[in-house]
Amino acid sequence: MLEPDLLAYKALRDAMLAGHPEAFTSDAETEAQRDLSSYRNRLAGGGATLFTLVALDEGRLVGALTCEREPRLKVQHNAHLIGMMVSDTHRGRGIGRDLLIAAIARLKATPGLAQVTLSVTSTNRAAIGLYESQGFVRYGCLPDAIRLNDGRSLSKDLMRLRLD
Ligand SMILES: CC(C)(COP(=O)(O)OP(=O)(O)OC[C@H]1O[C@@H](n2cnc3c(N)ncnc32)[C@H](O)[C@@H]1OP(=O)(O)O)[C@@H](O)C(=O)NCCC(=O)NCCS
Repeated sequence: MLEPDLLAYKALRDAMLAGHPEAFTSDAETEAQRDLSSYRNRLAGGGATLFTLVALDEGRLVGALTCEREPRLKVQHNAHLIGMMVSDTHRGRGIGRDLLIAAIARLKATPGLAQVTLSVTSTNRAAIGLYESQGFVRYGCLPDAIRLNDGRSLSKDLMRLRLD
């Protein structure tokens, strides 16, 4: 990706982290300080990142979804979805679903993968509904998974989808 794409991705992510602190594990204050170049692997692939899909509206970045895979041999068959976000201005138009469907198709075409996991805050009905609509099933729940500045403690549902 070109430099402006890194900038657009960071801007979208920073806005989403600030606007939806309950939805993400990373906190907005720390991530806002993060250097632009640290997003290079995430966007171009490399390191743990398998790929990042983005949604554009007339060239403007309005959504993104990243997939990671651990390099360690015994866990290489597991992929992980992170960073699902659709700009508030574009919610409810099917963009999240399109990103998820495209990611699943790509994962199914990737040799050696057997399942894909994700974690989602247990109160996030929109995201859970989206994941369930594409076949993800809850396999567990981590109580007290994240603690917010306002003192709230929220659990995270752990979900997975078989790819074969
Ligand atoms: C969750 C999110 C990614 C969904 O993206 P979106 O583009 O708005 O979702 P879509 O329009 O593709 O909706 C797809 C499905 O999601 C579910 N969904 C979406 N909004 C919903 C809502 N407000 N309540 C319940 N289900 C909802 C539904 O199953 C919907 O299918 P339907 O239209 O047939 O009912 C987006 O709202 C977002 O970025 N939210 C803030 C960040 C976040 O929560 N990220 C997920 C972290 S795990």
